Amino acid sequence: MESSASNQRMQELAATASVTAPDLGVDPTECVAPGPSDPCTIVILGATGDLTARKLIPALFHLYLNNGLPQAFQIVGCARTRMDDDEFRNKMKTALIDAAILDQDQWPAFSAALHYRPIDYEDLSSYSNLAETLKNLDISHNTPGNRIFYIALPPVLYKTVAQMIGRAGLSAEMTNGNGWSRIVVEKPFGINLDTAMDLDRSLHEHFSEHQIFRIDHYLAKETVQNVLMFRFANSLFEPIWNRRYVDQVSIMATETLGVEHRAGYYERSGVLRDMFQNHMMQLLALIAMEPPARFEADLVRDEKSKVFGALRPFPIADLQNYLVLGQYGAGVIDNQPAPAYREEPGVDPKSLTPTFAMMKVFLDNWRWQGVPFYMTSGKRVARKLTEITIRFKTVPHSLFRHILGQTIVANRLIIGIYPDEKITLTFQTKNPGARVCLRTVTMDFNYQQNYTGPVLDAYEKVLIDCMLGDQMLFWRQDAVERSWSFLTPILDRCEDCDDRTDLLEFYRAGSTGPAAISRLVSNTESA
Ligand code: BG6
Repeated sequence: MESSASNQRMQELAATASVTAPDLGVDPTECVAPGPSDPCTIVILGATGDLTARKLIPALFHLYLNNGLPQAFQIVGCARTRMDDDEFRNKMKTALIDAAILDQDQWPAFSAALHYRPIDYEDLSSYSNLAETLKNLDISHNTPGNRIFYIALPPVLYKTVAQMIGRAGLSAEMTNGNGWSRIVVEKPFGINLDTAMDLDRSLHEHFSEHQIFRIDHYLAKETVQNVLMFRFANSLFEPIWNRRYVDQVSIMATETLGVEHRAGYYERSGVLRDMFQNHMMQLLALIAMEPPARFEADLVRDEKSKVFGALRPFPIADLQNYLVLGQYGAGVIDNQPAPAYREEPGVDPKSLTPTFAMMKVFLDNWRWQGVPFYMTSGKRVARKLTEITIRFKTVPHSLFRHILGQTIVANRLIIGIYPDEKITLTFQTKNPGARVCLRTVTMDFNYQQNYTGPVLDAYEKVLIDCMLGDQMLFWRQDAVERSWSFLTPILDRCEDCDDRTDLLEFYRAGSTGPAAISRLVSNTESA
């Protein structure tokens, strides 16, 4: 009896600990697309590639279904392959079937907006022909000359293509608000500071900064965007969001996938360039930045850039206490045998490319002085997990120590990005019963809670923002350079030098990563 009553009470307690979203009188579906953007033509360079079929066309079609595209729009695919509009449309239809989002009723109208022009990326006359095509489409479809050039190509072609677009007169903008021209590039933005600056010089030969959209798909994830809302739309947490109350921060983005078919890129990139220079840095910035005066693209990006500027230069002479690098060996993932990185197709059997890194960094500023930020990312580990954990300090004095004989567990705030889109706050409560016992309970907010409307994927969000000209979610060049300034000396020391063998630890696929990660954490805690 006793125990079932207390079980019921515990369930009630658990229920009241769950957060209910207040009704703000906003129809959630109104939050999906921010309203009509200018009519425009989206030119995809690299239209026969994987990115176009797997991400871009499904994103554009889903936007179309949800009224997220402008009233008048055209999509022009360009690639080296010779084919006509109909062949391109059929290919894209197959892509939508593969993505399981083809709507047969809506397809005819959408497909009528799809066009294809073969292009030789290095030949200016190809781009002059493209300019002619775009002009004709503007006339026949009543579009006012607004263009997005989405570069869905290998990075080696970025410079050439951007220059050719410019030389064909396609980067020029009219001054009356219409006739804008924007270029979209995906990471990697160079492979180190010098090459990033070089790429930027090429982009700027014909495009101004307001025309350049440097994508980081992590920034378009809903839960990542939510970090700023959570921090700056609640008065509860901001006063304790600093070195006085925060003990350490962990930023984690691990995955079960291996290098897949991307060895050519990944062998030269490794985890530091692939995940740290971009995604991990953006997560760090969102957690650590100061509140901007207003939620405007450049004010937000100013604050992020300051975070990168505050990164303490890495102690290259004492690397083992600040950095763990690993490479996956053979193992088992989801009960299936997984090959070692060195056995993957296209990988050098003696490769020293790291597929895992854990890094301890500090920010030399007033708010965060002395607080370690652990950033961890790796391929082929046991779980795909993207999560940020803020660990607060333990209570200054435990009045329960003589009874409990234990340290009181510190509060944690967990921002889950994948697989759970959630925010969880852990705290201590009394265990029901006559004895004094503490237990850790959680308050959970699930991101999808109380929401049934459509959800935009990261590429849809990115495309909407390009059409609106909103650069909030895109990298600005000063931040790119600061991020590279921090990482380049580490790369020079760890990835690009001859004696790097001793810096790399092998871990079993399906494990939690190199054993050395525990050394890194315990070293800090005792420091
Ligand atoms: C990409 C990296 O930018 O991000 C990949 O190139 C990585 O190597 C991917 O797998 C991870 O993204 P997500 O959204 O699955 O966490």
